[in-house]
Amino acid sequence: MSLKITVIGTGYLGATHAAAMAELGFEVLGLDVAPEKIEMLSRGQVPMYEPGLEELLRAHVAGIEGSSGRLRFTMDWAEAAEFGDVHFLCVNTPQKHGEYACDMSYVNSAVDSLSKHLRRPALVVGKSTVPVGSAARLAGRIAELAPAGGDVELAWNPEFLREGFAVQDTLHPDRIVVGVRGERAEKLLRQVYAGPVAEGSPFIVTDFPTAELVKTAANSFLATKISFINAMAEVCEAAGGDVAGLAEAIGHDERIGRKFLRAGIGFGGGCLPKDIRAFMARAGELGADQALTFLREIDSINMRRRGLMVEMAREGVGGSFLGKRVAVLGAAFKPDSDDVRDSPALNVAGQIHLQGGQVTVYDPKGMPNAKQVFPTLGYADSALEAVRGADVVLHLTEWREFREIDPARLASVAAHRLVLDGRNALDPARWRAAGWTYRAMGRPTA
Ligand code: UDX
Repeated sequence: MSLKITVIGTGYLGATHAAAMAELGFEVLGLDVAPEKIEMLSRGQVPMYEPGLEELLRAHVAGIEGSSGRLRFTMDWAEAAEFGDVHFLCVNTPQKHGEYACDMSYVNSAVDSLSKHLRRPALVVGKSTVPVGSAARLAGRIAELAPAGGDVELAWNPEFLREGFAVQDTLHPDRIVVGVRGERAEKLLRQVYAGPVAEGSPFIVTDFPTAELVKTAANSFLATKISFINAMAEVCEAAGGDVAGLAEAIGHDERIGRKFLRAGIGFGGGCLPKDIRAFMARAGELGADQALTFLREIDSINMRRRGLMVEMAREGVGGSFLGKRVAVLGAAFKPDSDDVRDSPALNVAGQIHLQGGQVTVYDPKGMPNAKQVFPTLGYADSALEAVRGADVVLHLTEWREFREIDPARLASVAAHRLVLDGRNALDPARWRAAGWTYRAMGRPTA
């Protein structure tokens, strides 16, 4: 008999996971406490921009013409508890306001709400990014609350999906990590992931703390790689070197690898910044804070990048932003996403605005979210409109649209032809050929 799966929390991670589970052939029930999310998803609409997700959802949501009908949504905990053999916890764990630690309240309340109704054997699988030690604590909580007692088990199965590639990363994960305490949990998860495993995804079985740590360790490593290359960019600038050439040259060493070595204004988003901070906070609680003091440096190198970009722009317009028009290309924290959480691009735009610059932002998908966070910035409907009359153009999120744009067309409307590439992603030769002064972080000015 095929397993029935619930997905608790239908945000970014949950909506993708629910649709992917339906794609793998399971009957899926998604649960959320937000009625507007449930209404949208039930109509086959996705509350965020993510390539391919809406199509995948519409292929499975019950009631949509031509769909498999395997995916439904509810707000009813008892219904979810009764329905599922496997319950995936996909609620978010944001950074606590004014603290490094993450906020576990959504996870805790989801576990409590579900557990009370668990009257039959089931496996609860945590996917949220949590401080190490949470799984053991939550297992105790479930045992206390679930009417089915020991017939309900917990497993931890961290999620590594990247925004912009969420569907691909969920259906074809580069590894599946499960932290379990018993064979039954492992067996069930092997059933759930039989499809991706058959296609070659490694299936790694470990204990609770290791599974929890894999996620935070992976994100810390990625953050470290980015801050490392950004530190090299600072040195290159001081020494007259070229960080792009340096990254390419060191990246050919397979032990280092070429990915995540793009210098620029640094990392942002809902994961890397808050995950490294929560990791430091948890290590402190465990008495292991010394082991992670380097992450404080990774964080501060990263935050410094934003200020350096602002300085570079200020210098570019003659030392003061007053009376200057600044075009900002990009608002999302990365391309192919409309997510502006802790976005370096918006942060830079906001700082320049505060220093008196007249900022006009354009982003292919991130504008509605950006307007909510920074309503006082100027916004344009296209790159061309943003650049019209600009004294300087800042390229801060590396959308394909910006790489493919015709620099000559932009040159015809800009007040000054100065472009600062905060992502090292534009082709300097193309821009220079169109009459622009092109500058990038950590690269010599030609
Ligand atoms: C990250 C992890 O990659 C993913 O595995 C985890 O599940 C969630 O966190 P995501 O936040 O979607 O995913 O973005 P990612 O692609 O990792 O990029 C993070 C930030 O780093 C972006 O702001 C990006 O612009 C920046 N970045 C990335 C760089 O500045 N340089 C690089 O070379 C790569």
